[in-house]
Amino acid sequence: MRISILGCGYVGLVTGACLAEIGHSVVCTDNDESKIRTLQSGGLPIYEPHLDEIVARNVAANRLSFTADLGEAVRFGDAVFICVGTPPLPDGDADLSSIDSAARLIAVESKSSKLVIEKSTVPMQTGQKLIRALAIYGRNSDCRFAVASNPEFLREGTSVLDFLHPDRIVIGVADAQSEAQLREIYRPILEQKFPCPVHAGECPDKDAPQLLVTSINSAELIKHACNSFLAVKISYANLIADICERMGADVNEVVRAMGLDPRIGSSFLRPGLGFGGFCLPKDIQAFIRLGEKAGVDVTLLRDAEQINKRRIDQFVAKAANCLWTMKDKRIGVLGLAFKPNTDDVRFAPAIDLINRLLRERAQVSAYDPQAMEKAKEQLPSIRYCTDSYEAAEEAEALMIMTEWESFAQLDWQRIRDLMLRPLVLDGRNLLNAEQMRDLGFEYYGIGIPTADAAHQPKASPSAAIAG
Ligand code: UDX
Repeated sequence: MRISILGCGYVGLVTGACLAEIGHSVVCTDNDESKIRTLQSGGLPIYEPHLDEIVARNVAANRLSFTADLGEAVRFGDAVFICVGTPPLPDGDADLSSIDSAARLIAVESKSSKLVIEKSTVPMQTGQKLIRALAIYGRNSDCRFAVASNPEFLREGTSVLDFLHPDRIVIGVADAQSEAQLREIYRPILEQKFPCPVHAGECPDKDAPQLLVTSINSAELIKHACNSFLAVKISYANLIADICERMGADVNEVVRAMGLDPRIGSSFLRPGLGFGGFCLPKDIQAFIRLGEKAGVDVTLLRDAEQINKRRIDQFVAKAANCLWTMKDKRIGVLGLAFKPNTDDVRFAPAIDLINRLLRERAQVSAYDPQAMEKAKEQLPSIRYCTDSYEAAEEAEALMIMTEWESFAQLDWQRIRDLMLRPLVLDGRNLLNAEQMRDLGFEYYGIGIPTADAAHQPKASPSAAIAG
């Protein structure tokens, strides 16, 4: 099928590239001309595993192209995916101005009928406003516009995998023809019949994704409901971690036992510095606003957000408890991205935390495998290191802010010898407390018993507890 993608951010690029990869003809556009020039010259504005090879392969096969001519892109597709950003407004509402502009662009530029698909995360009832805007601005009476909602559940760092091997595909439609078109678009994924770039063809056994056909309103709500639930689950794990820390239990043991109950599930129960990134923080805010407008008590969501916001304060208090004052003390930071396998620092807990350390007049030396260039835009004054060892040199404390696997593989004896004081504050429970303390580190995790409390005898050594 001929497909247009409006917006070349994460969602637009992954959607466009993967739809081309499964055989569709795709034209992507964005009103940021420099981004289009980067893409046309073979570059990528983001780091995402597998995306570079898929884009290159499909551009070479003439199945994928990028244009700064917005009208040309709109006219190309029978289906138009709106993948523009919906950042938070100061009051927490989602900013829908780019959706509005996209609607007008489609209405004015179209020369044939279109299926207009919401891929951006939008509050419920946006589809109705989209239908109205397309009718108001439509110039060509021969053009029929149908609107559908198709929320994405892509996680940064694994989004190509998530797109090609989803748990489910949700399509919110108002008519049978729109449903048929979306079924056709996703048929290779629904049948899991495509050469997989992630598994080199040997895809692990997994049930084919379910297709859920709903109303447009329900589909829009499903995205906010899912992301807000994930946020609540993370905040619950952090609440448990605080109890463990105050009362002397081990959160790793607790969440492991919780996760073995299939009604709870082990994913998204990892305590730490809190949830960040461009999705969960803004989606729970927008959902709170939506609930309030609907006159629903959203205390549960508000509390989850507050628990999340307090993570940084608690971590700084823990550091101050160890370091006394921080003025002129060198602090090494490992990890800037909001999570591993991405270069994204938007709403990253590390950025807030480092700003707090700078306010305490600490000297910060930081390292991240991918995100330093993006971090420099927000944190120009700190020292960026060539590797983790340089960040640890002469440091009085080392803080782990993103759980990159490569940090767990470091030579921690060498790190200990490089540091002025072997003090590690692990904001992601990446490392194993016992092993670190055996190496001679003062080690503090999240919800992990302190060294003194840790010496209480256990029934049997639980070798399985990973850091
Ligand atoms: C999220 C949703 O997972 C995805 O389905 C949706 O489409 C977009 O938003 P993403 O923003 O890429 O994806 O990140 P995610 O993997 O969900 O992590 C979000 C934040 O929560 C990160 O800061 C991560 O470190 C944190 N997190 C995640 C925890 O603190 N604990 C956990 O157990 C899981």
